[in-house]
Amino acid sequence: MAGGNLRDEHERDGGIEVDNASDLQIYRRDPSNSPLTRTLSSFTYTGSDSPRLNIVEIGSGTGIVGIAAAATLGANVTLTDLPNVIENLKLNANANAQAVARFGGEVHVAPLRWGEAGDVEDLGGDVDLVLASDVVYHEHLYDSLLKTLRLMLLGKEGKRVFLMAHLKRWKKESIFFKKARKVFDVDVVHCDDPKEGSRIGVVVYRFFPERSSRKMYLTNVYN
Ligand SMILES: C[S@@+](CC[C@H](N)C(=O)[O-])C[C@H]1O[C@@H](n2cnc3c(N)ncnc32)[C@H](O)[C@@H]1O
Repeated sequence: MAGGNLRDEHERDGGIEVDNASDLQIYRRDPSNSPLTRTLSSFTYTGSDSPRLNIVEIGSGTGIVGIAAAATLGANVTLTDLPNVIENLKLNANANAQAVARFGGEVHVAPLRWGEAGDVEDLGGDVDLVLASDVVYHEHLYDSLLKTLRLMLLGKEGKRVFLMAHLKRWKKESIFFKKARKVFDVDVVHCDDPKEGSRIGVVVYRFFPERSSRKMYLTNVYN
C-alpha cells in the first residue's frame, strides 16, 4: 500500500525494522496506530485449512505491493496482471519467496485481465482482500477495472474489501470514483503527506459492497 517499499528495511531478531515504515509495516508493528486496522481486523478468513489472510493483488506490475503484503502480514497473496507481465511477476515472486516464507507468507502468480469474468473465476473463491496500487490512469480501462471489482467483491460470502493506493494525476479520474460510488461504498483510509514539490500525496481508498449492491450486481455485472 502507500509506501509499500522494502528498500529501507532490514531484518533483525526475526522482525522487520524500518526507516520509512509503510502502512502495512505500521500495522504489523503496532496495530493500534495503523490506518489499516479497521479493515484488516474485520475479516473472517475464507481459507478452510489456513488462518492466513487470502489476498489478490490486481494490476501488480512488479509485484512489490503484494510481496510486501505477503511478508508483513504473513498472508497468502496472488499477484495478477496481464498475461505478458506474468513472466516478470513470477521472477520477482520467486526471488522473494524465501524472505516471504520466513514471515509465514506465500506468493502466487496468475493472469487476470480486467473485465474478463473467466479470469476471476479461475482465481477461485478464497479471497478476503483485493489490493491494488496505481491502477486508475487510462480512462478506457475504468469500466473493465470496475467490472473486475464487481465480480470479485459483490454477491460473495463473507466480507470482501478492496484497498487501493492512488496518487491523483488527472481531473478525469473523478469519473472512475463517481462510477465506483454507484456500486461500492468508498472511503479514505489514509492520506500520505505530499512529497516535496507536490501538492498531494498517495491516498489509500477502501471499497466495500454498498448495502443495495446486490441489485446493482444483477443489473451491471454482465455489461
Ligand atoms: C501503473 S501500473 C501499476 C503497477 C503496480 N501496481 C505499481 O503500483 O507499481 C498499472 C498496472 O496495471 C496493469 N494493467 C493495465 N491494464 C490492465 C488490464 N486490462 N488488465 C489487467 N492489468 C492491467 C499494467 O500491466 C500495470 O502493471
